[in-house]
Amino acid sequence: MISSMGHIMKKPKELKVKPIKNGTVIDHITANKSLNVLNILGLPSEKIKVTVAMNMQSSHMGSKDIVKIENRELESSEVDQIALIAPKATINIVRDYEIVGKGKVHLLNEVKGLLDCPNPNCITNALEPVVNRFYVIEKEPVILRCHYCERIMEEEEIESQF
Ligand code: CTP
Ligand code: ZN
Repeated sequence: MISSMGHIMKKPKELKVKPIKNGTVIDHITANKSLNVLNILGLPSEKIKVTVAMNMQSSHMGSKDIVKIENRELESSEVDQIALIAPKATINIVRDYEIVGKGKVHLLNEVKGLLDCPNPNCITNALEPVVNRFYVIEKEPVILRCHYCERIMEEEEIESQF
């Protein structure tokens, strides 16, 4: 049972996601993929403040997710992984409430050391593994081909790794 808090809530005039003071805003994430982005970033993590907004209206994407992380910047390997699941994502660096840097994620023609090959017999899954390496066959939706065993990997298998 939910007990009454004893007051009637008024309808707020406007309810927006709060700006952050310092940190990173990942905007234009493919709708409903923000939890994959959090996994890539190793979040949630103790003491790191994170705001997640899902299925927000977007003029050019229809709907999108947004992730705001306070006092944290991203590593390039993290940005490369985000590109695999949210190819339209923008990375905004915020300092003292101002955007001091804005960039787009970019998927290169080759993806190295970021994903496991699903083929158990692939040399990258051997006891003394070789660093995984895939060619980008298709960018949207992403389709990859393993450099070693030629196994094709599509969106669903890529997303399941994050
Ligand atoms: N933002 C934030 N905190 C700030 C400044 C900006 O959380 N102190 C967020 C905004 O809410 C927005 C994103 O960072 O989600 C990018 O901000 P801005 O460049 O001002 O917005 P747009 O012009 O709409 O971005 P774009 O041109 O990339 O669509
Ligand atoms: Zn392989």
